[in-house]
Amino acid sequence: SILDMEVEQINKGNYEHYMQKEIHEQPESLTTTMRGRLIRGGSCKAKSVLLGGLKDHLKTIRRSRRIVFVGCGTSYNAALASRPILEELSDVPVTMEVASDLLDRQGPIYREDTAVFVSQSGETADTLNALEYASENGALCVGITNTVGSAIARHTHCGVHINAGAEIGVASTKAYTSQIVVMAMLALAIGGDTISNRARREAIIDGLCDLPNKVREVLKLDAEMKELAKLLIAEQSLLVFGRGYNYATALEGALKVKEVALMHSEGILAGEMKHGPLALVDENLPIVVIATRDACFSKQQSVIQQLHARKGRLIVMCSKGDAASVCPGDSYRVIEVPIVEDCLQPVINIVPLQLLAYHLTVLRGYNVDQPRNLAKSVTTQ
Ligand code: G6P
Repeated sequence: SILDMEVEQINKGNYEHYMQKEIHEQPESLTTTMRGRLIRGGSCKAKSVLLGGLKDHLKTIRRSRRIVFVGCGTSYNAALASRPILEELSDVPVTMEVASDLLDRQGPIYREDTAVFVSQSGETADTLNALEYASENGALCVGITNTVGSAIARHTHCGVHINAGAEIGVASTKAYTSQIVVMAMLALAIGGDTISNRARREAIIDGLCDLPNKVREVLKLDAEMKELAKLLIAEQSLLVFGRGYNYATALEGALKVKEVALMHSEGILAGEMKHGPLALVDENLPIVVIATRDACFSKQQSVIQQLHARKGRLIVMCSKGDAASVCPGDSYRVIEVPIVEDCLQPVINIVPLQLLAYHLTVLRGYNVDQPRNLAKSVTTQ
């Protein structure tokens, strides 16, 4: 029964902590997120996606002047990770708003806008207030939540449930990867199926279908991430450099470390390196650089060389098989991850950082499921 399923989900099973369970169940949660939504097509039928809760609104979304993503914390980061693919496929400009900041500024939201509210709980006060504000301004409001019947699900005009299953750990993990997958599907649904982009669309759909397997593969880094955590256990700070599709990975990886391991950590847009962050680099401060294969790869290679030249203590995340070419010396630690379609790579790349944050927290003796001062759902301003 549904009740048994829910009780089952709320049990920790063989895991010590909910966060650990939720990290490891991502192959299954992603499968559930995609269930019934990917149409693989027959011999002549194009592959496509079906998002039932949106199908009557797709025309309006395509015609809108702008798509505005609104969220807080990890949900904001998930939207940021999805922004490039939505821009590429939708032909609509996409902007980002942290919910509280949109409210602070009373920023412009118009009738011609589509505002997409991303929230795991569907109850975050700032996101809900931003929804009310956007709705009053006449925007089409779309919800992406993990909670059926939540305030955001009820007050939006349409939406998509991510169906990741109950998430108990305060630090969001499986909801993040499911949110990215839903927003990749959203990009496919909004984007027209033209001859010029068919190969790209099909590669993304194939990539989505294979994603749970690839996540299973990257989860095998668990022991390696525990070893890395042991090396970092006494550090004061950790920087994470990313760009392009993986700027969000840098922010989200740093957020995990900060939230649960109670270690200062900062996600840095690699393109901004010379405008400040470079001043922090010395032989002591550990720096994770995300340099998996995509259009930004050669730029990241040059970032690695420049950090190396300043004796930076580097931990490089690269695509499988790239370790030798990406890391010129043996002064590096390397995290090799499986390659997927570039826009889906953030789903893979966040997993080792989730595992690192988890192990760091346990080794440092902190409460991983309920970090001090934080709440799962922030329902007051
Ligand atoms: C809190 C949680 C985070 C979450 C954020 C937004 O800070 O601790 O894990 O990302 O709220 O929550 P939402 O439910 O709106 O995604």
